[in-house]
Amino acid sequence: MAQKKFSVLFVCLGNICRSPAAENIFRHQVKEANLDNFIHIDSAGTHDYHPGKSPDSRMSKTLNDRAIPSNGAARQFKKSDYSKFDLIVTMDNENHAGVRSLASTNADTEKVIMFTHFCEHPDHQIAEVPDPYYGEDDGFELVANILEDGCQQLLDHLRKQLDH
Ligand code: 4NP
Repeated sequence: MAQKKFSVLFVCLGNICRSPAAENIFRHQVKEANLDNFIHIDSAGTHDYHPGKSPDSRMSKTLNDRAIPSNGAARQFKKSDYSKFDLIVTMDNENHAGVRSLASTNADTEKVIMFTHFCEHPDHQIAEVPDPYYGEDDGFELVANILEDGCQQLLDHLRKQLDH
């Protein structure tokens, strides 16, 4: 029987900048590591500002410039995501509190981890992934750097956990 995939959900506010970028970067890294049969990846937003919308074009351009595809359709985080995902990774304190406010059990709460927990690079020793939506283009570069770093460490962590 096929092994159940380990499932990871990235969550931000609008699900058009940070969390779809994390989803696309992580999917790219997981594919390169030949682990796509073992890890399921998705993203969501705590708010329903842009239902069905593709990732923000500034975020997509930043990823495409790094030869990373950028796909997705925004959706809102739902309480039922707790039963579908093993790990829920939030971008800032507000998303973190919003997601945790829908937890029913301690086990649910423990699934929710801040993205920056995984970052290793000295430049990324920060508490939150900054929201680039209202900022300049260099904000998207910074977010992509932070996400590439944290996703790589998350992959290394899961590789050990999944024993691959
Ligand atoms: P995200 O960025 O949470 O990284 O997707 C934002 C996207 C949209 C809005 C705010 C942040 N908004 O206010 O519409």
